[in-house]
Parts: sequence; C-alpha cells; structure tokens
Amino acid sequence: MMKIKPCFEYISHSLCARSGRAAAASVSFRCARTCYHRDVAARGKFITFEGLDGSGKSTQVEKLARALRARGVSVVVTREPGGTSAGERIREVLLHSATSGLSPLTEMALMFAARAQHIHEVILPALAEGRIVLCDRFTDSTEAYQGAGRKLGSKPVLELHAVLCGNLQPDLTILLDNDVAVSVERARRRNRTRRNGRSEKNTGKDENRFEQENRAFFGRVRQAYLAIAAREPGRVQLVNARGTPRETHALIMELVRKKLKL
Ligand SMILES: Nc1ncnc2c1ncn2[C@@H]1O[C@H](COP(=O)(O)OP(=O)(O)OP(=O)(O)O)[C@@H](O)[C@H]1O
Ligand SMILES: [Mg+2]
Repeated sequence: MMKIKPCFEYISHSLCARSGRAAAASVSFRCARTCYHRDVAARGKFITFEGLDGSGKSTQVEKLARALRARGVSVVVTREPGGTSAGERIREVLLHSATSGLSPLTEMALMFAARAQHIHEVILPALAEGRIVLCDRFTDSTEAYQGAGRKLGSKPVLELHAVLCGNLQPDLTILLDNDVAVSVERARRRNRTRRNGRSEKNTGKDENRFEQENRAFFGRVRQAYLAIAAREPGRVQLVNARGTPRETHALIMELVRKKLKL
C-alpha cells in the first residue's frame, strides 16, 4: 500500500518542506500546512454524506455506490465514526447506549481520533489511487453534534480538524435535510427493528446512544448543518430528503453527475 503522510508544515516556513511548493500569499495558514493532502486528494474524489440520524444517509450511500459501480467507477464506501479496525472499536464506545458519563470534550476527541486514523488508513490511500470515496458522516457531523448539539462551538472542531485531519475537505458534501421529528422517528423505528432482530441489516450491535437525546439537541444539530451549508455553498449541497428513497437518489445522482462529469 502506498505510504502517505500528511504534511503538517507551518506557514512560518515560506516553502512547504514536503511538497517544496511556495506558500503563496493567497494560501491561508491552514492550506499551507496541508498542501500534501490537497495534492493527494486531487486525484480521486471525496464525497461525504451528512444529516440527522434517520435522514437516509446509509440508504443513499448504498444506492449511489451501486449506481456508480454499474457505470464502472471504482468506489470505496466507508463511514464515521469507524472505517478502520481501531475506528470501529472507538465507534462502539461512542455509540453504545451503555456508554455513560462521557464528557462532550472526550466525545469530540474520540471522534477525531477515529477520523485521523480513517484518513490515514483508508481515505487518502483510496484518493491517491484515483477512487471515489463515499463517506457516511465526516467532520460536519462533529461540528453539528458536538459543536452545536453538545454546545462546544464550531471553533474547536475546525481547529482540531486542521491539526488532526490536515484540514482535508470533501469535494462534495451531500446534506440530507428533513424535519427533526421525521428523521429521528425513522432512526428510532429502524433501531427498534434491529433490536428485535427483524432487519436484514441487523448488526447485532447497539448504536443507540444519540437516540436518547431530546428534540432540542437535534434541533441544534439541524440548524448547525444548515449554517455549514450556508457558509460553504461550493462544497455542501442541500438535498431535500423528504421524498421516497428513489426520489432522493435521483437528486443526488444529478449532483454527483455534475461533480464527476459522468
Ligand atoms: N426516503 C425515505 N423514506 C422513508 N424511509 C426512509 C427513507 N430513507 C431511508 N428510510 C428508512 O429510514 C431509516 C433510516 O435510514 P438510514 O439508516 O439510511 O438513515 P441514516 O441517515 O443513515 O441514519 P443514522 O444517522 O442513524 O445512521 C431506515 O429504516 C431506512 O430504510
Ligand atoms: Mg446510517
């Protein structure tokens, strides 16, 4: 496997030591220390899915992967928290309903620990091979859930993203938007079905910790997502997820077709 190391050089060096590129005046402090990530990421495409619990992310990731593969595109499907063996163990700690007393800061730190490994082990190597990476949740989730839901604010999330994730930015983020009550109820129904072992997708795992949050929490999460979309319209595409899975898939295909020039 190709060995990829993120570049964490600071702009105080006028040249990035790893890429040898000049830190141009227009390049921000953050970009200058992450130029290697950008070079690597330029080869494939990184598409993330965001939205509330039950908004349909996993359903739509699967549909898009199937559609792209049918067109001969090489696709990697992955998810957060998780995506690596260390990350999946962290996922269990984070999402299991038996996990209690975790401070919001600990929760954020664990999310980023899993993410840093995920980027290193899965995302960057796949992008370097020119593949399309479809990732179910990424840093916008941390900004929405820990930043807004847990009230830690966006600033620490974005700062940790710069330090621990080399500020890696998706080429496209699909934000599935639906009303809080509808999304959360769908997630609860799905979890109940899984608990009862009636679902084909029953993983046997408990991932219900966030299910216990109240409506105000999910309201803050949704508002934060909408604020991210307004802040970064070039990256984040808001998709109305109130239709059938097929209708939502058609909207997503249109966006992806444009982005990938299919
Ligand atoms: N457009 C839709 N209309 C009705 N039901 C849907 C739709 N999309 C997905 N569902 C169903 O809603 C439930 C939640 O969908 P899914 O698991 O894809 O959401 P998610 O965003 O991945 O949730 P989580 O964040 O909890 O993983 C599933 O049972 C799924 O089959
Ligand atoms: Mg899901």
